[in-house]
Amino acid sequence: MVGLLLLLLLLPFLLYLAAPQIRKLLSSGVCTSTVQLPGKVVVVTGANTGIGKETAKDLAKRGKFICFRVPPVMIRARVYLACRDVQKGELVAREIQTVTGNQQVLVRKLDLADTKSIRAFAKGFLAEEKHIHILINNAGVMMCPYSKTADGFEMHMGVNHLGHFLLTHLLLEKLKESAPSRVVNVSSLAHHLGRIHFHNLQGEKFYSAGLAYCHSKLANILFTQELARRLKVKSELIRHSSFMKWMWQLFSFFIKTPQQGAQTSLYCALTEGLEVLSGKHFSDCHVAWVSAQARNETVARRLWDVSCDLLGLPVD
Ligand SMILES: *[C@@H]1O[C@H](CO)[C@@H](O)[C@H](O)[C@H]1NC(C)=O
Ligand SMILES: *[C@@H]1O[C@H](CO)[C@@H](O)[C@H](O)[C@H]1NC(C)=O
Repeated sequence: MVGLLLLLLLLPFLLYLAAPQIRKLLSSGVCTSTVQLPGKVVVVTGANTGIGKETAKDLAKRGKFICFRVPPVMIRARVYLACRDVQKGELVAREIQTVTGNQQVLVRKLDLADTKSIRAFAKGFLAEEKHIHILINNAGVMMCPYSKTADGFEMHMGVNHLGHFLLTHLLLEKLKESAPSRVVNVSSLAHHLGRIHFHNLQGEKFYSAGLAYCHSKLANILFTQELARRLKVKSELIRHSSFMKWMWQLFSFFIKTPQQGAQTSLYCALTEGLEVLSGKHFSDCHVAWVSAQARNETVARRLWDVSCDLLGLPVD
């Protein structure tokens, strides 16, 4: 009896001691790519905290010495932190500049809960940059009480899915022109619990904060696959003149540190030869299974059309 009580009392302490080991076990995936990004242009959404910040930091580090100059100069990527809160973003940008020595870490305003802000971001970006080589759709909201975006979309669907969908659409031509280029979508294991209820896409008939997140993450996967399908058809028609790579990543963010969580994003953005796996879902730096719903092409196609419709984009 006393033993049991003691054990119960000690349990939190033991768990605390074992946490580093548990973490290690769960973080098997590490991105070991040594790919450098001199002169590349990178955009990371939601880059002012957590996984997005670690991802941006790692990408900002990767550079090459240009040796015909004396003294040789290190050329790195230009990394855009696309954030809702510009002030916070600036603090993070300065931190990344200090840690990496890369001065070209820039902050731009992007509120994914407002299509006006998304369009303004894209317009500004397209005007100031000739290329975009890596887009990391990382931002996301989770477990919000019922609320709507500026355009009247349910918050999870609106930010996690429709917001990134619009952003990707607006940058798509530039991404193609900049090929080889990559888009990485951050999803989650939570998609397994997700369902696409077309009659209740905006959660007006029924709503659960936890499930809304899962639905939006399922939508992310359906989109990536549908887009990979569409790009394949198109690029085969134009004989692979542009080849794009659509990658998926998934993370279990409760236990992993942000740095560990960033590994699969980095793996998908950097590893050479991943093109053949375009549209696939990755976990711990490996291709991972997705749920049956996430493999349903009918649902994917319909969600694509509905999303274009909601966003006022031409359905093709
Ligand atoms: C993910 O990829 C699709 C394209 O496959 C894109 O349209 C979508 O906006 C991206 N972002 C997210 C978070 O789903
Ligand atoms: C795809 O989903 C639809 C609607 O939920 C369902 O009727 C259909 O049987 C599914 N198809 C496959 C191949 O699972």
